Amino acid sequence: MINEVKNGILYFDGCDTVELAQKYGTPLYVFSETDIVNRFNELKKCFIERYENTRVAYAAKAFCTIAMCKLAAREGMCIDVVSGGELYTAIQAKFPPEKIEFNGNNKQADELAMAIDYGIGRIIIDGLQELSLIESICKEKGKKVQVLYRITPGVKSDSHDYIVTGKKDSKFGIPLDEHVIFPAVEAAIQSEYVDFLGFHFHVGSQLFDNTSHLQALEIVLFLINSVKERFHYDVTELNIGGGFGVTYTSEERKPFEYFLDPMMHRIEEFFSHLGIKRPAVVIEPGRSIVAEAGLSLYTIGSIKDIEGVRKYVSIDGGMTDNIRPALYQAVYAGIVANKADQPKNDKVTICGKCCESGDILIRDIDIAEPASGDIFAIFSTGAYGFSMASNYNKNAIPAVVLVKEGCDELIVKRQSYEHMLQNELVPESLK
Ligand code: LLP
Repeated sequence: MINEVKNGILYFDGCDTVELAQKYGTPLYVFSETDIVNRFNELKKCFIERYENTRVAYAAKAFCTIAMCKLAAREGMCIDVVSGGELYTAIQAKFPPEKIEFNGNNKQADELAMAIDYGIGRIIIDGLQELSLIESICKEKGKKVQVLYRITPGVKSDSHDYIVTGKKDSKFGIPLDEHVIFPAVEAAIQSEYVDFLGFHFHVGSQLFDNTSHLQALEIVLFLINSVKERFHYDVTELNIGGGFGVTYTSEERKPFEYFLDPMMHRIEEFFSHLGIKRPAVVIEPGRSIVAEAGLSLYTIGSIKDIEGVRKYVSIDGGMTDNIRPALYQAVYAGIVANKADQPKNDKVTICGKCCESGDILIRDIDIAEPASGDIFAIFSTGAYGFSMASNYNKNAIPAVVLVKEGCDELIVKRQSYEHMLQNELVPESLK
């Protein structure tokens, strides 16, 4: 268990959270190395070791720092990046180039050039113009790159509307209309600048039901068969995305096998029936690797008990370090870290310090009676918290600490005001 209560204090991966808050200040993101490694190990056991010719590409968008890239590399993982900035972070971490995959619906020429220069393993092409752009860059540089096409399988998954991506009406992927997909496949097969490996889909995020993955799989298998028939071309790689749901409050996390086993059985059955070698299968989990490995620590400040209405407990962070409640109505759990064994008999609303009424992190939660100066911990904030943080109201981005079995190490310094302003210039007329 990474969460433990000792002497009334919440411990996280063996570290006293109140001491962490004192040592590094708040707000603070804390990540458990043990939990991240456990997740990778689960995937090694139930996927990489169980099924040959498979890979895990950690979706860096969930939490992308040099240290996290190094951790993923050390654990033998591949990585999925979606921007020049994420790619640059991976490069700074000396991530093996052939283990990097590049996703994104509007990759820029300079981002693609950086990827091609570094020699990355795969580019997942998301639209028809992208192939020509890649070809012109490769031509200029005298290089060749391996590519897949991200397709829009046209399936609907059960999650927040902003994080479902598989339906046809989506900015992601290439729609499967015959006059669109087949010419695109033909062009990639014939191109002298790319090696066409196969297809990619990603149906959505925070999913607890494997139906949409399995539906998308059927569609892509049908496509693979059509490509074989039309072009006598056997794809060698299939990327089935991420999206595996995690526990924020009471949701029960499904084991990876729940998604992966039925998909792998279907894939193996399909290719043995077709009489061709099964392609490599790649998954891109992001949230399911880091969400529960992250804990946010805050200091409680102002407390306003509006009689008969609501008790607002303000913390020193908010939507700038965790936009998910405001953006997706995401629900989180938390406790007063220094009163972890006290009865939770005070119903409060945990709000941030931004000038925004929607800056509420947790609505109506029962906690131990809070006081100014207490440390408040919010669980499962490891995915899409730090990576979506902003400087709204010129709040600084918090520090990040990596903990492991009682040891702690700073991996991202707290942003300073100087750092926040370092790119700002004063025009001559205002000097
Ligand atoms: N692969 C692709 C192509 C993706 O678009 C995504 C997520 C993933 C993999 C990783 O999905 P995961 O395993 O993390 O569910 N900011 C939102 C989530 C956006 C997800 C975008 N794509 C949130 O905080 O819920």
